[in-house]
Amino acid sequence: MANQYDLVVIGAGPGGYTAAIRAAQLGLNVACVEKEQALGGTCLRIGCIPSKALLQSSQLFWEAKKNFAQHGIQCGDVKLDLATMLKRKESIVRTLTGGVDFLFKKNKVTKYLGTAQIVGKNRVNVQDRNGTVELQAKNILIATGSVPAPLAGVEVDGEVVTTSTEALSYSSVPKNFVVIGAGYIGLELGSVWNRLGAKVTVLEYLDRILPGLDSEMSAEAQKIFTAQGMEFRLKTKVLSAKRKGDQAIVQCEGAEPIIADKVLLAAGRRPNTQGLGLEKVGIELTKGFISVGSNFATGVPDIFAIGDVIYGPMLAHKAEEEAIACVEALVMGFGHVNYDAIPSVVYTHPQIASVGQTEDQLKAAGADYKKGVFPFKANARAMTLGATHGKVKVLADRKTDRVLGVHIIGEHADDIINEAAAAVAFCASSEDLARTCHAHPTLGEALKEAAMAVDNRAINM
Ligand code: NAI
Repeated sequence: MANQYDLVVIGAGPGGYTAAIRAAQLGLNVACVEKEQALGGTCLRIGCIPSKALLQSSQLFWEAKKNFAQHGIQCGDVKLDLATMLKRKESIVRTLTGGVDFLFKKNKVTKYLGTAQIVGKNRVNVQDRNGTVELQAKNILIATGSVPAPLAGVEVDGEVVTTSTEALSYSSVPKNFVVIGAGYIGLELGSVWNRLGAKVTVLEYLDRILPGLDSEMSAEAQKIFTAQGMEFRLKTKVLSAKRKGDQAIVQCEGAEPIIADKVLLAAGRRPNTQGLGLEKVGIELTKGFISVGSNFATGVPDIFAIGDVIYGPMLAHKAEEEAIACVEALVMGFGHVNYDAIPSVVYTHPQIASVGQTEDQLKAAGADYKKGVFPFKANARAMTLGATHGKVKVLADRKTDRVLGVHIIGEHADDIINEAAAAVAFCASSEDLARTCHAHPTLGEALKEAAMAVDNRAINM
């Protein structure tokens, strides 16, 4: 029968499209429904990918202005062509979202562009401009991701008071840029516009930036970002942000109002569950997240959920792991995600990356641990790159030496952290890391040296 599928996936972000492809590989007849006109979800269209493209371009601009001269490169007056920078970003997004289309075709996943609603047991309606199509689904997987969380008093108009979506495409560099929230999004996009010339003020409710990350790393990061020109106002409660003409007025508790040319609201994201018809079929939410049990099953038979809509870090790679585990459990009877070994990266400069437990968590749990730290200023590769800021910290169990956490602030921390994630996933000891031969000269040697420092035997320090 037409429109009958083994699995209907709702949402084509990293969680949804990975699930659809893996299910097709395993022999299921799969459809994937996406409400936007391009596949790839927030990550590919308006999140990870466009932000990383802008982070790269803006970093090159910054390097050309501030650092080329010390390499003996004179390039005169460096000028910004923002329109070209934005076009490059858009072209990368187009290539990658088109890539998901290609993968769907290759794996025979049927794509529906329209808004999905679960209308009954094993039934999903897809609505688009031309009407409604009903799909029969043996199984339904919800992978609808997250949306920016609103903040009381902050009136997003999409032009002056904006979310991350618009902050990826400002057509000119704002003179005064106010960022609400010193989390991943605030710091990454704050960095982009700071490098391009904006005066960036970050308003953070807590007494530190990047809550959740290792506090030693975030304190060091704050110093570096401040030296780059970003201003941080911590313990600051935003009462309101409202557009007035072409600007916005931001009012914080006990402070003078701030006039901004652009405001970015980056105070977290919330699960995207509205309009899915969850209440109709009896799916329960806990604090806005879809509650799931083993193998990502909701309380309703044949309906599963993964990614940002369920509890856990809102990270593309976490959703991808869950996608594969969920589908494999459905088809093969087992699937597993190791939540202790999910890395995270903040793509500022330097980057901040971590996996496993933070030192704060270990202290709070009263754990008996050892700590090895190695600074990049003692790493030869970092010196040749001109990237000597930051350090690597390895935390290991005092008795067993098992690696409990690795935290890095430094150049290409995004790549180094994957080795640390493998170590955590394989229950490696710091000794294992220390005795693994690392190519020289590489930044990764700092991880090996930090592992050696756990036993006070780092060589180059
Ligand atoms: P976040 O949770 O990382 O940070 C939000 C910040 O806003 C926190 O520091 C919080 O204390 C602060 N905040 C909350 N209410 C506030 C208020 N009223 N006034 C001032 N500050 C306030 O959330 P963010 O940056 O919006 O990112 C959302 C999600 O997207 C995160 O969970 C993150 O994992 C993910 N993401 C991941 C990226 C990556 O992997 N590189 C990049 C961007 C986002």
